[in-house]
Amino acid sequence: MPKLSLFPLTAEVGNQGHLCIGDCDVVDLVRKFGTPLYLFDEFTLRHKCRKFKTEFGKYYPDTLVIYASKAFLNKALALIFKEEGLGLDVVSGGELSIAHSVNFPLDKVYFHGNNKTPEELELALDWGIGRIVVDNFYELDLLNKLAKEKGTNQDILLRITPGIDPHTHRYTTTGMLDSKFGFPLATGQAEEAVKQVMSTSNLNPLGFHFHLGSPVSQVQPYELAIELVLRFAQEMSEEFSFNPSEFSIGGGFAIPYTLDSEVPTVADYANAITGKLNSLIPQMGLSSPRLIIEPGRAIVGQSGIALYTVGAIKEIPGIRKYVCIDGGMSDNIRPALYGAKHEALVVNKASETEEDLVTIAGKLCESGDILVRDTALASISPGDIIAIPVCGAYSIPMWSNYNALPKPAIVMVEEGKACLVRQRESYQDLMRLDLPMANPRVK
Ligand code: LLP
Repeated sequence: MPKLSLFPLTAEVGNQGHLCIGDCDVVDLVRKFGTPLYLFDEFTLRHKCRKFKTEFGKYYPDTLVIYASKAFLNKALALIFKEEGLGLDVVSGGELSIAHSVNFPLDKVYFHGNNKTPEELELALDWGIGRIVVDNFYELDLLNKLAKEKGTNQDILLRITPGIDPHTHRYTTTGMLDSKFGFPLATGQAEEAVKQVMSTSNLNPLGFHFHLGSPVSQVQPYELAIELVLRFAQEMSEEFSFNPSEFSIGGGFAIPYTLDSEVPTVADYANAITGKLNSLIPQMGLSSPRLIIEPGRAIVGQSGIALYTVGAIKEIPGIRKYVCIDGGMSDNIRPALYGAKHEALVVNKASETEEDLVTIAGKLCESGDILVRDTALASISPGDIIAIPVCGAYSIPMWSNYNALPKPAIVMVEEGKACLVRQRESYQDLMRLDLPMANPRVK
């Protein structure tokens, strides 16, 4: 079953012909926890963390892997990343609070974002966050003022926009000149930012960050951007005697979503990125900074799958067969938003031949709510369970309650044990924050 290669690393077909993950029969898990269900494999999560550490560390020992929380963070994941010795990239007070709730070492937390609010910055300062990645001139002033008021000095990186095209979806391209993120190199604003930061009273600049986009399916954009930003660092060192002790190349590492996707491996990215750094840094006479990498998708993507129950099946003769499931764009917006592609597997018929050509449709009231178009599955009937692999990244944090659908449950499996890490929402949960009008007007 070639599709299994997209599933978590512990995936296998059990002797009942069922998909098994982490030594758990997925049909049993669905009986116990219901659908839609998101399932994570702890072994795969830990394996991916270690892979990034070893592959980059091999060639560039002073590498810190910080997990990009926006791909998905909850308490269970934060604890695993803490145990694996990773740092975190957070982009909101919310993500920071999740990290704080499990006593994540906040000195290894980097705060990104193009419009951090004063409240978020104050929270970060109060909790002693490791680094704030300053994105624009407004933030530079605001952060310096807040740090001064609190009598503290804050370590920061400056986010540089190198102007390199990562050739990815335009919604997830960030490193081009025309972007809301960062100080552009091309306009001289990056240089101006260094100049200004050198004269602030309460900010301690440690280096530069860039992030090109996500996913970046080639290594060349990283190589080009590293060269540009290092050259800039060399100029800044000559002009302002500013020598970076940290250099962050962001995240964006691609992973296969479908059987035909061809993307670099972690080792390929590591080779290219560290190769460029190791050759250019000595040439430029810079002292080696700590390398920061920010993988999100490549750590959680393959670790998570989505599970649904099949209900209505509608066949339009000669046109298409729609297989309708009990979730959809409210729990995975990526196909509708970015045209993302997925494969699928019938969990309870995992060893059967796949000759039924179907389109998997969600239950939301939109024709665009299609999760997988024209895919071959085992002969399908209502009540079957469908698994969609590679759903661990950017599905859950983009969940909505569209059509007032309650959000699914999340389960973590490991060595035959399954642990519920997020409860399924109830209708009461949906209305919990909804208040009746205090003073209805009487006509
Ligand atoms: N660092 C920064 C500054 C970022 O903005 C991002 C992603 C990452 C790291 C992590 O990128 P990753 O390694 O996960 O590719 N919702 C979109 C993806 C948006 C990515 C936003 N920034 C999707 O579903 O494809």
